Amino acid sequence: MSLLILVTGATGQVGWQLQRTLAPLGDVVARTRSQLDLSNPEATAKYVRELAPNIVVNAAAYTAVDKAESEHHLAQEVNAVTPGRIAEELARTGGLLVHYSTDFVFDGSKVGPYVEDDPTGPLNVYGETKLLGEQDIAASGCPYIILRTSWVYDTRGKNFLRTVLRLAHEREELRIVNDQHGAPTWARAIAEATAQIVARSSEHHEQSGWGHNGLFHLTAGGTTTWAGFAQQILSEYEALAAWPADTGEFGSPLMAERVIPITSDQYKTPARRPANSVLSNEKLLSVFGLKLPDWKVLLRLALEDAIR
Ligand SMILES: NC(=O)c1ccc[n+]([C@@H]2O[C@H](COP(=O)([O-])OP(=O)(O)OC[C@H]3O[C@@H](n4cnc5c(N)ncnc54)[C@H](OP(=O)(O)O)[C@@H]3O)[C@@H](O)[C@H]2O)c1
Repeated sequence: MSLLILVTGATGQVGWQLQRTLAPLGDVVARTRSQLDLSNPEATAKYVRELAPNIVVNAAAYTAVDKAESEHHLAQEVNAVTPGRIAEELARTGGLLVHYSTDFVFDGSKVGPYVEDDPTGPLNVYGETKLLGEQDIAASGCPYIILRTSWVYDTRGKNFLRTVLRLAHEREELRIVNDQHGAPTWARAIAEATAQIVARSSEHHEQSGWGHNGLFHLTAGGTTTWAGFAQQILSEYEALAAWPADTGEFGSPLMAERVIPITSDQYKTPARRPANSVLSNEKLLSVFGLKLPDWKVLLRLALEDAIR
């Protein structure tokens, strides 16, 4: 069966990578915000109805965590209302929805990694709207796979990795929060795992239905803090940048060599963030046989890819 796959948020970190990883699996229609604006639920539902894709991979999201505190309505439309409407359309056609959610659905008070059915308790508006999105999709009756991930970065786009490298070219030291724990996850690894899941689901579909349905955690292995992540970025960058290369921002020497750890209290932000964002990936391994490498391995691969 030839699949028609709609990808939303095509300019985002995950959406960009999905266009390559999903390409061998069918015809991919990738839509940017200007082509398909999820702040308009009815227009998005109409588009999905008319396109009638077999699968929607919804990589679009309102991801500005701090700004969401003052843009609750917009964040809710994009992260919950419209994904719910897409799900309703797919419930009618039997299409599969693959959607992403976040570690920020949890309050971070658990000791140890969160499993999928741990109680939620978002600390900020972004987390609330993403949780509502999960619930609306689950209530729609469509076949769905929701992948909760964390601390997403890439070597393009707006993200922590690029911010750290930019600041490290401008300042001699970086002060970074050291009391929030999680697993930085490369967008390409998320997109590759998604393609594997889509491939397995569509193989299953040839026999009987889409197969496994539900909520899964999908993050890199291991854990660190934002300060630990930043220090590793600087160390890996220094090691790799010694290679001869004319690669613009990824080729020049850094001013900063070290990270000064600070507490969340010393770096106030409009949105509160969980102290523990670590997600257990056991369910993904047992159901799909998939496991992402340690975050340090993925970081090195991402930087090698950018620098070489
Ligand atoms: N980033 C993280 O650290 C993180 C952590 C946990 C979970 N997640 C989840 O992972 C998924 C992918 O995130 P990401 O890191 O790839 O996010 P991202 O890089 O911020 O990309 C988000 C994408 O959504 C698009 N978008 C925003 N508002 C839209 C709208 N109204 N209509 C259509 N598209 C819109 C953006 O378009 P523009 O480029 O035009 O803005 C962009 O293409 C999301 O569900 C996110 O909630 C992300």
